[in-house]
Amino acid sequence: MAEATIDNPAVADSDEGGVRRRDFIEIAAVSFGGVGALSVLYPLISQMAPSKDVLAASSTEVDVSAIEPGQAIKAVFRKQPLFVRRLTEREIEEANAVDASTLRDPATLAEMTKEGHTDMLVTMGVCTHLGCVPLGAGEGEIKGEFGGYFCPCHGSHYDTAARIRKGPAPLNLEVPEYAFTSDTTITVG
Ligand code: FES
Repeated sequence: MAEATIDNPAVADSDEGGVRRRDFIEIAAVSFGGVGALSVLYPLISQMAPSKDVLAASSTEVDVSAIEPGQAIKAVFRKQPLFVRRLTEREIEEANAVDASTLRDPATLAEMTKEGHTDMLVTMGVCTHLGCVPLGAGEGEIKGEFGGYFCPCHGSHYDTAARIRKGPAPLNLEVPEYAFTSDTTITVG
């Protein structure tokens, strides 16, 4: 039986079990086309990735050393309010006394904070109902029925772990991505 080769198209075309010459040319063309497309795509994709400068600009460093227990500060993260609050022993106890599984948006205080820093509550200052800025982080502001934050727009109450407890908001205040970069500094984003 004649061997199917590229040099002998008549034989190759008649060999249904092997790769026909036309197929080979098509496969080769597609392969080169694929490589060409990838070499065009890669610079495009690498240009679309954010540069280190852009990533740095989108993170926020907050010095938390001056925040006393029971105090909070308002910062800005990606143009939105950010609350950083140091909880008192009592606020921690109140948060831990709640059975998290009974909450609308179940979460423990440990899950809302970082290990070893459960007294430091870092959340966005944006109500999860329709986006108002809740009260409770500023000096003298009311903190609602659960001692955390209160959104006056439609009456959402958050507790000392920023969990929704009453009112129309569906979720706890959002905890952004952040890390302690030293004992006194957090980097958000
Ligand atoms: S926006 Fe906060 S309760 Fe509606």
